[in-house]
Amino acid sequence: MKIVSKCIVIDKRSGQSTLQKLNDADLLDLKLKIFSKNEFLYIPIKNVENLPEILQNLDFKIQDEGFESRNLKPYSLKNSLLGKIPQDLLVHIPRSFDQIGDLIIIDIPKELSEFKSVIGQDLMHIYPTTMSVFNKTSRVDGEYRIRSVELISGSGETSTIHRENGIRLHVDISNSYFSPRLSFEHRRIMDLVTPGDKVLDMFAGIGPFSVLIAKNIESEITAVDINPYAVENLRKSIKLNRSYLGSVISVVVDANQLLEKFDPNSKFDKIIMNHPSGAINYLKTATMLLSDDGIIFCYVFAPKKSQQEYCKNLIAETVGERFTFKNVTQVRNYSAFDDHVCIAIEKSA
Ligand SMILES: C[S@@+](CC[C@H](N)C(=O)[O-])C[C@H]1O[C@@H](n2cnc3c(N)ncnc32)[C@H](O)[C@@H]1O
Repeated sequence: MKIVSKCIVIDKRSGQSTLQKLNDADLLDLKLKIFSKNEFLYIPIKNVENLPEILQNLDFKIQDEGFESRNLKPYSLKNSLLGKIPQDLLVHIPRSFDQIGDLIIIDIPKELSEFKSVIGQDLMHIYPTTMSVFNKTSRVDGEYRIRSVELISGSGETSTIHRENGIRLHVDISNSYFSPRLSFEHRRIMDLVTPGDKVLDMFAGIGPFSVLIAKNIESEITAVDINPYAVENLRKSIKLNRSYLGSVISVVVDANQLLEKFDPNSKFDKIIMNHPSGAINYLKTATMLLSDDGIIFCYVFAPKKSQQEYCKNLIAETVGERFTFKNVTQVRNYSAFDDHVCIAIEKSA
């Protein structure tokens, strides 16, 4: 039976950032299942207060729709911690955490640091298939874009099989980057690849774009990463999934050396550059590998304010007149001032 609720109707391309903003404002109605129809996402909400402010600059509608209910966990982390930590500290309990396969990664604020173990144990109790719970101890850092974590409960196992978008991914958080928060973006880019495309995944990591595209689209993918452990995980992921429509060649190489490594005539129809803190430094190389009607998806951290203008200028300054900024898509909220965004770039006419 469906339950009628107020909801936001929004273009799928803005889905990830909208969900994040609604979640941050505690407006998502988690008891109901989000659904999509045509190009739109239907997101159930608890109330409509402050929505224009929270979703400013986004084009959305509010309407009533019927939703299926979700099977909710019997209790939340906050409920489970009632009575175990002082009442005045309850406000600091993180509202979200990452589940990567059977691992949980949480960011416990300093106010709760003496309660780390109890938080870890309660998470294992609420999600009984969890092997390890880790607390973040650094930001994503270094050439391989890995974060440091500390074990707060469980076995300490760092590798797991994560499921997203109908594929299985081999992840080892101790040696490779992976974020479950990008699953919507992995899917969005896959939807833009057309059969017959040659795709270059320039900072492929453990392969969430490459494996998903190969699984669903008859295409030739070259997946590149400087981190040999990430490429090893990617190769394991390729073996984990069956019946591909496309093919993946994986290479451990510095993106700086691609022009020397590849046949100068090999051109790509889609180039994915998801390395937001560094991709822009490799954009010139990518433009030399792009086919005439190809598209580059270059990821950067861009200010929330005047974002389009910032991205347009950045592309003009980096690759001049020969390439044109096509559009910018918000991927997720990165900080109070910046978003992680994807800039689509094509050759100028
Ligand atoms: C943010 S991660 C993105 C991984 C993957 N695209 C995803 O969506 O999960 C960036 C990746 O770029 C890789 N990387 C950093 N510098 C590189 C370089 N110079 N050449 C090739 N890969 C590089 C890192 O090892 C890391 O796996």
